[in-house]
Amino acid sequence: MERIKIYLKNNLSEHRYIHSLAVADCARKLARVYSFDEKKAYLAGLIHDCGKGKEKDFLSGKFLYPIKIDKWTQKILPVLHSKLGAVIAKEEFHIDDKDILNAIAYHTTGRFKMSDLECIIYLADMIEPNRTYPRVEILREAATKGLYFATLLAMDFSIQYLMELSEMIHPDTIQARNTLLEKVR
Ligand SMILES: [Fe+2]
Ligand SMILES: [Fe+2]
Repeated sequence: MERIKIYLKNNLSEHRYIHSLAVADCARKLARVYSFDEKKAYLAGLIHDCGKGKEKDFLSGKFLYPIKIDKWTQKILPVLHSKLGAVIAKEEFHIDDKDILNAIAYHTTGRFKMSDLECIIYLADMIEPNRTYPRVEILREAATKGLYFATLLAMDFSIQYLMELSEMIHPDTIQARNTLLEKVR
């Protein structure tokens, strides 16, 4: 864990490093509330943004590891760091736990039938204490009421935000929302 923190401190901006520690902490708290493995949630939260800043390497063909990027992620660049991050977690931090790798890879979009850990990281990323945007308090409150319910609401807020900006929505997000809706109803 210490080695990972040193890597993150050296590779992320200070702002992003502080955010990563806060997401880890928030993920651990959510794990406690929703009876999930707290250590695993902390680790996934800590490293969820480890691909940040590596986009340039990828786009210039200098990313260290082979990786396939789906066509929508190629068009929606804010999603890219989550895919690069999952590869870095595997190759640099030697994390083999599929659930952790998926929680990283899908923390920006969600996906079809998200696991509890995927929901925890998606949500923690949006509600950690340093986040300040309109309606964040509503999500913090929702996070005490139900994991899938709160993740769904967080996703609705991000979809609404993207629509207001006329930005593309990754198809994984639509599948995530549909399957979360099914779970919540
Ligand atoms: Fe991220
Ligand atoms: Fe993040």
